[in-house]
Amino acid sequence: MDKIQEILQQLSLEEKIALTTGANNWQTVSFEKYGVPSVVMSDGPHGLRKEQVDENNPNVFNSVKATAFPTASLAACSFDRKLVGQMGKALGEECITQGVDLLLGPGVNIKRSPIGGRNFEYFSEDPLISGELGAAYINGVQSNGIGTSLKHFFANSQEFRRVTGSSDVDERTLREIYLTNFEIAVKKGKPWTVMAAYNKINGCFATENAKYNENVLRDKWGFKGAIISDWGATHDRIKALIGGTDLTMPKEQATAEVVQKIKHSPELQKVLDRNCERLLALALKVKEQRDKRKKESFKRSLKPLEVAQKVAEESLVLLKNKDQILPISKKQKITFIGDFAKNPRYQGFGSSHVNSIHVISALEAVSKITEVSFSQGYQADGQDALQLRSEAAEKAKKSDLAVVFVGLPETYESEGYDRSHMKLPEDHVKLIDAVSKANPNTIVVLQNGSPVEMPWADKVKGIIEMYLGGDAGGQAIVNALFGIVNPSGRLAESFPYKLEDHSSYLFFGGEGDHVEYREGVFVGYRYFETKKMPVRYPFGYGLSYTTFDYTDLVVDQKDDKASAKVTVTITNSGDRTGKEVVQLYVSPHKGNIIRPVKELKGFTKVTLQPKESKQVSFELDHRSFAYWNVEEKDWSVETSDYDIIIGKNAHENILVQTIHIVGDTVKNQKLTELSTIGDLLKNPNGVKYWEKISDRFFEAVTESGFANQKTDTKQVTADELKEQKNNDMYKLLLSLPITTLSQMIPEYSLEKLKQDIAEVNHGSWRLY
Ligand code: BGC
Repeated sequence: MDKIQEILQQLSLEEKIALTTGANNWQTVSFEKYGVPSVVMSDGPHGLRKEQVDENNPNVFNSVKATAFPTASLAACSFDRKLVGQMGKALGEECITQGVDLLLGPGVNIKRSPIGGRNFEYFSEDPLISGELGAAYINGVQSNGIGTSLKHFFANSQEFRRVTGSSDVDERTLREIYLTNFEIAVKKGKPWTVMAAYNKINGCFATENAKYNENVLRDKWGFKGAIISDWGATHDRIKALIGGTDLTMPKEQATAEVVQKIKHSPELQKVLDRNCERLLALALKVKEQRDKRKKESFKRSLKPLEVAQKVAEESLVLLKNKDQILPISKKQKITFIGDFAKNPRYQGFGSSHVNSIHVISALEAVSKITEVSFSQGYQADGQDALQLRSEAAEKAKKSDLAVVFVGLPETYESEGYDRSHMKLPEDHVKLIDAVSKANPNTIVVLQNGSPVEMPWADKVKGIIEMYLGGDAGGQAIVNALFGIVNPSGRLAESFPYKLEDHSSYLFFGGEGDHVEYREGVFVGYRYFETKKMPVRYPFGYGLSYTTFDYTDLVVDQKDDKASAKVTVTITNSGDRTGKEVVQLYVSPHKGNIIRPVKELKGFTKVTLQPKESKQVSFELDHRSFAYWNVEEKDWSVETSDYDIIIGKNAHENILVQTIHIVGDTVKNQKLTELSTIGDLLKNPNGVKYWEKISDRFFEAVTESGFANQKTDTKQVTADELKEQKNNDMYKLLLSLPITTLSQMIPEYSLEKLKQDIAEVNHGSWRLY
């Protein structure tokens, strides 16, 4: 008998029930007599928020000092799995030094709307980026023998009514967008735990949702760890146990009623045992790792602040660089303007809030390089300050160049509530106006957790999107401004001109406790590109101080099935070392299924010395071409042409090659007499049948005069009708039901037609 079973047999029912909830806010219950330790958890995701137990100061911000790393919204822009993995490794090491076994992160939820209050904690609007970087983070943390909790599973994309609301989403959208991110992270990262979200999914709480927790996450994706509830997300202990949530957090004493119910139900006891097995496995894993560390005497391999700085440097996004205003030369007379230069906005608000060791402001960082003047520009409390603005404009006028630091104050975006608009504070916008009027050589540095509208973008020469850069964000900004690093971040989300342009705009927030995801799969760039809607900056966008050329796109297909190897060569054609994010999109030609015009299916980041070339390759598989087939309850590929696109970003194609793919045979799709003639012609047997009957049909149509109703100038003959596949009659025919055949052909009875259709159905039908 294995250790887990041995312990399980010794645990009393009451002990088992106690095991399924916390011992307190952050720990599981220990059973020393059976060798079961307590697992210590801590937030996450971008730094350690290990609460200090202080009865006199029970404050979420009273956590141990730790390094604040860039938030996921920034780290995602690195498009760099290795770098995010390194950040994970550094975080894992922080956990070890603080006695934490399990870090509550990463958050891979999809940014459905730019105004989601917690967007700073999430990677992207795209499931591939979210899943891949989530997996990289998990692998990094877990390489230390520290566990992660992949959160928040799932369809948790708004804060408004976050604990009671239901995300009402059709199955195809769930699979393609809101589950794919988790699927990739689970399969590639193998997190020790997954955190069940607060919200309901189509009316069923995430903590109670066996359909996804058990059938999809565990059975289909092979997740072997434990599911823990978000803090306070369990509403019914029994339903949560059945729904696959193994651990309710934080501590919640089971009521006598719950205990009695379990006591009297052998089925519930089986479920309880199942969940306890998973929790015991987690605890024993923790014990094993602790023992290993004791033996090997742990030593950090990474300096957290250095890693935080590197992530910030490689992720910040250069949005605009008119007249090559950047990088700045030290010889210029420079002024820094804006309170954020001195008191940066560098992390998000809520459970991910870190008690930072030392935040480096841009002003502090620049002082090590050169002298700059400074003016505050606006009041930190948001009160309009004409005087501060005038002083700033005055300094700008007397300088060669002005760098304006603006963004979103902390209260604008937070866990727990969403934004209502995408605008910067009014006094920040007024400041940009005043400074750019005083000196056209104005550069704006943005510090914000999520996209903002930029009606002022044309007035300035340079824009850097810094997001929330963590402790070393200020250093990273200065290094980018002065060209010590070459910007290489690319936006992991679209920046629309205005909130109203966004596909989620009409429905975000929902009505009461229901939010319908009516835009379906058209999230972010999937919508903007399909709708041909211009945006301020597209997904995948970002500039560099060097330039890159792309050549030699080769798409290698072994056969006509859904798989291909894609190679492309990238050359640094400028004179500085730089990093390029190579982006591969797949674009299905119009078929039967309504799909986004393109979707990201591969990405990688390469470093290139001046004039250096590198070849990169991507493997495309069935999933790269597939959509979720609701009837088949599986992924299907349509027979079609597909463009393989190497894109500069989601909007700009660089190289394109079209390939043909023969898709999947779709079973179960039987023809009925109400299927259309168009449907019939997609079926190989149907085509044969049509070849037999169509001559007679066209004759009958012509005899009836039906084909010539529209015009009395040119009479169409049966042969013409058959040949001119593009004429209006033919198009009309394709959407008529098959019964039309027996209606038009006098001697062809409905009964005979039904028999023929039954025969056609013996074959199978390929999607076109
Ligand atoms: C958040 C989680 C967090 C937990 C513990 C919840 O409110 O949604 O992300 O890990 O609190 O602080």
